[in-house]
Amino acid sequence: MSTCMAAASREGKKINDVVFSSSAAAKEAIKKYGIKNVVNATVGCYAGDDEKVACLPVVEKVYKSLPMSDFITYAPPVGLADYRSDVIDATFEDQRPDGYTAAIATAGGTGAVHIAITNYSEVGDQVLTTDWRWSVYDNLCDEVGRHLTTFAMLDDSHSFNIDSFSSAVAAILRQQDSLLIMLNTPANNPTGFALSDRDWEEVLDVCRFHEKNGKRISILVDIAYIAYTGDKNKVRTFMKQFSHLPEHIFVMFAYSMSKGFTLYGQRAGALVGLSSSKDVIDEFQEVGKYSARTAWSNINRAAMTLLSIVRRDPALLKELETEENNYFQNIRRRADIFMEEARACNLDFVPYKAGFFISVPTLKSAQACAKLQEDLIFAAPLARGIRLGVCSIPAYKMTGVASKIKKALESVDG
Ligand SMILES: Cc1ncc(COP(=O)(O)O)c(C=O)c1O
Repeated sequence: MSTCMAAASREGKKINDVVFSSSAAAKEAIKKYGIKNVVNATVGCYAGDDEKVACLPVVEKVYKSLPMSDFITYAPPVGLADYRSDVIDATFEDQRPDGYTAAIATAGGTGAVHIAITNYSEVGDQVLTTDWRWSVYDNLCDEVGRHLTTFAMLDDSHSFNIDSFSSAVAAILRQQDSLLIMLNTPANNPTGFALSDRDWEEVLDVCRFHEKNGKRISILVDIAYIAYTGDKNKVRTFMKQFSHLPEHIFVMFAYSMSKGFTLYGQRAGALVGLSSSKDVIDEFQEVGKYSARTAWSNINRAAMTLLSIVRRDPALLKELETEENNYFQNIRRRADIFMEEARACNLDFVPYKAGFFISVPTLKSAQACAKLQEDLIFAAPLARGIRLGVCSIPAYKMTGVASKIKKALESVDG
């Protein structure tokens, strides 16, 4: 038996990183067969057609121009005042709902999800999300003694499954007085699915019903990928529905600079809270500050400064939006090739609206991905399907991928 030092309660803690081994295999294949011959669909960062992780030019320009003091000086645990105000604007754009708002700077979107779980669910509680989900949600809940429960994101017609959502909420609220619901939309990871405004109406009706019966509901909208989903105001129309919600329905947004500013490694994000109650927002700031202070103390000051500089300068903001739109169009082109070919060969995929990933449902994803590797296609095998990072596969390599997945699935289905 190996020597143990970790506390007994930590026994068995291990991140099962299914993307990592596929990504390592892709790198090996690239060495052996050359980059032109390998499709590495495991990468979760935007890359241009040269397959190198890209940085938005305006971000590189402004970031490199910052004085050293911005990189080395502490920031307040809740974040710089300008940043907190600007990140609220960046979250809502022109679709700001009525209500009290506040933001807490967080270590990326991950930090925002962490703070939401820690403060808006009880120890031992179930937290609810979609079955198609970012797997780190499970770990984030587990780390602080919560259990992640899922509902079916899609019904048989591939629409948002409001019945599954509604029964899951009701079942949990028979056992709990409060519930945290996490929805990663628009541009869900791993599918690119998004709830429509109508879906949101129904979600909120369910929440209102339980709130009337004395329950408290918090909703975390994870908008990590929103910068690459299309017209910034059109994709945010659903946010207006959060105006004037009852006091015991609290809405939060997990904002990330990782994708929108291509600053993945700089660890900057925010948890934005919105409520019709000032008390709820005051409390949000206090508990959020406490969590930030104890988890990471304060975050990257330079990244916060960058966001404020860009958002407060109309010319820079225009540059940012134009560049983001170029990336969005490029991802769209790649996704369109895949979807067109998938339809042509009758390959099922989760309805994709926008985002970094497309998923093909299968319960045999590990075998199918192993089979695909024979064709030098490397994708992430998730519990519910195969995930393709359309954010990083150049268009010329997209051609033929759908039919090869179809072939791999047929071969593993026997
Ligand atoms: C759904 C989702 N939410 C949040 C994040 C957070 O990313 P970061 O912590 O880098 O901002 C990611 C990153 O992959 C993600 O996929």
